[in-house]
Amino acid sequence: MGTCLAVINQKGGVGKTTTAVNVAAAAASRGVRTLLIDLDAQGNATSGLGIDRSELRQCIYDVLVGAIEGAGVPAEDVLITSSVPHLDLIPATINLASADLSLASQIARETRLRDCIESVRRDYDLILIDTAPSLGILTVNSLVAANAALIPIQCEYYALEGLSQLMRVLELVQRNLNPALRIQGVVLTMYDGRTTLSRDVAAEVRKHFASRVFNTTIPRNVRLAEAPSHGVPATVYAPGSSGARAYVELCREVLDDVQKGTRART
Ligand SMILES: Nc1ncnc2c1ncn2[C@@H]1O[C@H](COP(=O)(O)OP(=O)(O)OP(=O)(O)O)[C@@H](O)[C@H]1O
Ligand SMILES: [Mg+2]
Repeated sequence: MGTCLAVINQKGGVGKTTTAVNVAAAAASRGVRTLLIDLDAQGNATSGLGIDRSELRQCIYDVLVGAIEGAGVPAEDVLITSSVPHLDLIPATINLASADLSLASQIARETRLRDCIESVRRDYDLILIDTAPSLGILTVNSLVAANAALIPIQCEYYALEGLSQLMRVLELVQRNLNPALRIQGVVLTMYDGRTTLSRDVAAEVRKHFASRVFNTTIPRNVRLAEAPSHGVPATVYAPGSSGARAYVELCREVLDDVQKGTRART
């Protein structure tokens, strides 16, 4: 059974999608059977893998909400094979925007994703869930389905803002819905070693989260921002770039921890 990681931070634009897509692609390129689940109505992970969302008839919404409406779509039916070998995708379309509302009044609404992906879980060694910048029901679903949270933090002003709220949600989910939930680690993103700000923020985050911060820091690198418009992960678009190489390294750290079953970062 594969390990499932929720890439989460309710702050927008911190590098969640870039991290989810590139760690997934880096794992897949090592032959790790990987599934990326797009749980954000913005669908950035979906388009980042070159999938035209306007052509999709079904998405994760139909899996999660269809079940309630009696027209349940099995997760298998919305799976897409990506252009990266060993990497599959469960896509999101704009329909997902109404999922929070549709799920709000439902029984077992927080465990729906976990239940819905049960049938495909054994087919993968690693599952990454890209979440929206929100702590709504969908994001809680990702934490219930996951074994651990992967938290990108952008090396900018206010980096730590909102993190105590995020930690509170993690604790609540752990206490009430998913006792096994761990923090896989915090990853520093968009690091620019030339600026004091980046260095200060990185130091502050390392002080705050100590050993839970991954050794690998993701640099600010334009190739990472360009890759999505080419419909491929940066690890494919520009494998030699500093950004792609950092994600390959981060992936190695993540897989090492997962394989060792390390709880060092909890
Ligand atoms: N290390 C980096 N260097 C340069 N640009 C980056 C880097 N990481 C991400 N970006 C760019 O910054 C923007 C935000 O990144 P991304 O979409 O991954 O964040 P996000 O947390 O998923 O955002 P949202 O909260 O909206 O889902 C994107 O345009 C992305 O291409
Ligand atoms: Mg995103």
